[in-house]
Amino acid sequence: MKMQTITLLSGSMNPNSITRKSLKVIEKALQSKNIETHFVCPREYPLPIYDFTQEEPENTKLIKKWISESDGLIVGSPEYHGGYTGVIKNILDHLTIEDLSRKPVGLLAASGGMKSGISTLNSLRVVFRSLHCPVIVEQTAVSEGEIGDDGRLSNSSQEQILSVARGMILELKNRIHV
Ligand SMILES: Cc1cc2nc3c(=O)[nH]c(=O)nc-3n(C[C@H](O)[C@H](O)[C@H](O)COP(=O)(O)O)c2cc1C
Repeated sequence: MKMQTITLLSGSMNPNSITRKSLKVIEKALQSKNIETHFVCPREYPLPIYDFTQEEPENTKLIKKWISESDGLIVGSPEYHGGYTGVIKNILDHLTIEDLSRKPVGLLAASGGMKSGISTLNSLRVVFRSLHCPVIVEQTAVSEGEIGDDGRLSNSSQEQILSVARGMILELKNRIHV
């Protein structure tokens, strides 16, 4: 049987990113269930500002290939000025509805404020609706205050983050192939 595959997209350029750390928790949980993963970090796979007059960049081709092989996506973005980052929107602008349509999506936001993140999650949900992606109900917002002095995520925040991984696994299991 073909292994299931998930692509994780990060919208943070921060080398010490909380979004990245949180997505890595999800990636590890998916891999422990024999789900293959592709991880798109914008520092490792930078994309120019989307410009339809330019030839498709090699990194876009690679990301499109990974997404075409994937059964779903996990998308994480920092909250910038009450919404998702330009970096995550730029990655999505390089993609088309054909690349994404019907792929289930799990969402994660990272924020500075303890009570932030929700508006990023809500606005990403709207974006994925227009790309015809069902967004799973599980989502999580992680804040800077949940990072300890050792730079690690607290156990309780890891537990919340894992709910997104569990939700995606359930979504993949429940999909009937007719
Ligand atoms: C330009 C900019 C705008 C920000 N706007 C918000 C905001 O509106 N609300 C908030 O809670 N945090 C805000 N922050 C803080 C980031 O969300 C926070 O540092 C988060 O950890 C970034 O995620 P990262 O570590 O994955 O890059 C902002 C940070 C920057 C650099």
